[in-house]
Amino acid sequence: MTQESLILNGKKVANDLKHCLKHKITQISEKAGKKPKLAVILVGDNNASKVYIAHKEKAAQELGISSITHCLPADTDQKDLNNLIKTLNEDETINGILLQLPLPANLSPDIAILQINPLKDVDGLHPFNLGLIMTGKPNLIPCTPFGIMRLLQAYNFNPKGLKTTVIGRSRLVGKPIAELLTNASATVTIMHSKSRLNDLIDTVKQSDLVIAAIGQPNFVKAEWIKDGAILIDVGINRLDDGKLVGDIDFENCLKEGKAKAITPVPGGVGPLTVAHLMLNTVKAFEIQCFGYSSIEL
Ligand SMILES: NC(=O)c1ccc[n+]([C@@H]2O[C@H](COP(=O)([O-])OP(=O)(O)OC[C@H]3O[C@@H](n4cnc5c(N)ncnc54)[C@H](OP(=O)(O)O)[C@@H]3O)[C@@H](O)[C@H]2O)c1
Repeated sequence: MTQESLILNGKKVANDLKHCLKHKITQISEKAGKKPKLAVILVGDNNASKVYIAHKEKAAQELGISSITHCLPADTDQKDLNNLIKTLNEDETINGILLQLPLPANLSPDIAILQINPLKDVDGLHPFNLGLIMTGKPNLIPCTPFGIMRLLQAYNFNPKGLKTTVIGRSRLVGKPIAELLTNASATVTIMHSKSRLNDLIDTVKQSDLVIAAIGQPNFVKAEWIKDGAILIDVGINRLDDGKLVGDIDFENCLKEGKAKAITPVPGGVGPLTVAHLMLNTVKAFEIQCFGYSSIEL
């Protein structure tokens, strides 16, 4: 069967969400008598991290969220990083703490994330927040998986019963999206770098929904795709010619036209990640001010 694949417009879904959030933030800020405030921690000089932080600061500013970025030198030790997090935990004017990853090699992200007050953990990466996903009652959800769930919802793709392959098992994307989809009654298989390639291909060939989050350009081939599958590409890879591509071979998948829907890179999952960081910040703010959140998931 050849058909036209629908290109999922993550940018539009993110903009719609930000529009709603802006309205909500005005209301909540009026009620609280103050604005939500996000603290971002950047350690070292990673250029990609600086670009991501600039996007986050811009989105915060557009929505009426104050933000402050703490830039620490690359040779910061664990104790100093932990102390900064502790100070931000205790600072009542700060509602969300975002530790920009990756950290320089001498620092442990696990130890640092553990220091963050789970109620201010707007990246949703503290074991407490990840654990809540396991219970089926999440609070602050990691931003990229959260964005993927919203994208599916926005296009009326119900994961219930869908045979699903998640490629990648990181704490940031693969594991939480697999868990969220399981909670939404999808039948999920997780694949990773130690999976046998033949097993991976066989599983993808049978999947109604494929989430690729590995960081390998054009890894998922058009000929692996089942008729009518939904393809969500999380990967961001820069080729030698400067072009950005995902983990799924977008161009050939479009040409083959077997997929029902596919996300582009850029303009797919990426904008949703930033929008959900804003959502988590507002949610954390509301909970800290009033003990509950009116934000529906
Ligand atoms: N769009 C966004 O907003 C957004 C947000 C976050 C990340 N990303 C992008 O998404 C990609 C993944 O990010 P991440 O943080 O999850 O990366 P990560 O922590 O490096 O994890 C990559 C995962 O992919 C698996 N993997 C690597 N090569 C593989 C292969 N050939 N076959 C099967 N599995 C393979 C790894 O397996 P092992 O566990 O066995 O090593 C690992 O589980 C990156 O391109 C990143 O830039 C995008």
